[in-house]
Amino acid sequence: MSFYKELELILQSKNPQEKFRLFEDFYKKFQANECHFEEDFIPKKFDAPSYAEICTTVPPQQVPKRSNLTTEEGQVKLLHAVAHIEYSAIDLALDAAYRFGGLPREYYADWLAVAEDEIRHFVMLESLLHELGSQYGAVAVHDALFEASQKTQTLLERMVVVPRYLEANGLDATPMILKKLKKLPKSQMIEKIIENLEIILDEEVDHVKKGDVWFKYACERESVSEDVYFDIIAKYYPRGFLRPNDLNIDARKEAGFSCSELKVMAKREVC
Ligand SMILES: [Fe+2]
Ligand SMILES: [Fe+2]
Repeated sequence: MSFYKELELILQSKNPQEKFRLFEDFYKKFQANECHFEEDFIPKKFDAPSYAEICTTVPPQQVPKRSNLTTEEGQVKLLHAVAHIEYSAIDLALDAAYRFGGLPREYYADWLAVAEDEIRHFVMLESLLHELGSQYGAVAVHDALFEASQKTQTLLERMVVVPRYLEANGLDATPMILKKLKKLPKSQMIEKIIENLEIILDEEVDHVKKGDVWFKYACERESVSEDVYFDIIAKYYPRGFLRPNDLNIDARKEAGFSCSELKVMAKREVC
């Protein structure tokens, strides 16, 4: 099986069920060493995300705001927002494996393992959406994650922006959502949402960690200092770190951020 060609097909697949089935097949072959890495493969630049026909895309500020989480409507909005992040993350993990050639086998193994996690995360949340009588595509979404991946076409920039910035921001945001959910009157659905978000939060640390490993690899390969991280963040996110007071210090440390990096992000000594 041709590695990049097959990944391109999976990435472009617009039907979630088909995408997951193709991936499962492909991943088995990869693990059994049955993939052939084509030399001189030129990755495509995609103009639209693979979910473009499922979801209506709107600018981030027009995405419906989360409402009262004790109502089904509020729960659907929350679950849909997280499911969409997971769906986007599937393609981002696949794209990391697809776009950057000539790297050690572990690099591809890492991002395919992440894609497998993201599929599982999406399916978990999708099944809760179904329980609530909704489905993926029912709420308008933004395509900021897709945009971020298309803007970063080098390994170094991609590892900074996707795992080490966007996914790391998720490590800060999820505990805050969990805190809110835990204050609500108990219900079966709220309990299930909490349980799922806790699993996801725990597994996301490893995704950021994988990004950290390959970020450091890219720095070494290009003989640049790891401080380049902040230059790249400044280039793409001039507003920098949005929640300096709510950084998930323990999770970020576990994922490879140094105390001196965390100090810059938090604007104070944190470890
Ligand atoms: Fe995830
Ligand atoms: Fe992730």
